[in-house]
Amino acid sequence: MRRKLAAGNWKMNGLCADLAEIEALAAAPAPTQTDRLICPPATLIARAARIAPGAIAIGGQECHAMNAGAHTGDISAPMLADAGASYVILGHSERRQDHMESDADVRAKARAAHEAGLTTLICVGETLAERDAANTLDIIGGQLSGSVPDHGTGENLVIAYEPIWAIGTGRTATPEQIGEVHDFIRARLERRFGAGVGRSVRLLYGGSVKPANADTIFAVSNVDGALVGGASLRAADFGAIIAAL
Ligand code: G3H
Repeated sequence: MRRKLAAGNWKMNGLCADLAEIEALAAAPAPTQTDRLICPPATLIARAARIAPGAIAIGGQECHAMNAGAHTGDISAPMLADAGASYVILGHSERRQDHMESDADVRAKARAAHEAGLTTLICVGETLAERDAANTLDIIGGQLSGSVPDHGTGENLVIAYEPIWAIGTGRTATPEQIGEVHDFIRARLERRFGAGVGRSVRLLYGGSVKPANADTIFAVSNVDGALVGGASLRAADFGAIIAAL
């Protein structure tokens, strides 16, 4: 039985005053079957991790593949763990696009993150052009093979399917589109890692998830939660999404 996961990606948003949103989330009754995760900007991780340890997990949005060294501006996996993070998002399409991150980069970062004891939330997703060309499953399959390291388990690995055309656009994939890709990811994981591990990895959907559409998305097979951007910035909205899980 997989636990649900509601993950909020604050992206490049959030100042100290916004930590009040995490405090508000923590003040709400804790759901029994759902893990709650906030990935704030790196500047807030240490403070965020002290707000509700054990109740609201904190994650990074990225890490370097090396543990330390001359990499100005980068943050390593051990640094995230040291600051109190227990998760890290890797391979988000905004990183793949803005920083030219390849599948091999994501895989190397994931290896470093697992060694540091972090759970990796690895993102995959197709562009609109790729979907229109009926290449969605090929793209997702390639990203899974290239980005996910060999030692994935139900504890250290979460996969987020985020169609790029649905991120921040207000356009959500249909339940049929989500179901097709999530079932495909599940089958790929089972084939690669065996049924036990493959069935234990949580699969999140991301892309314009809001309180108004969360029920419909969470009813889709193999959707174990959501990776939420804009609607995770305010506790009221994110709380409503959590309640729908
Ligand atoms: O990481 C989160 C996703 O990119 C989704 O963002 O909910 O603002 O569309 P969004």
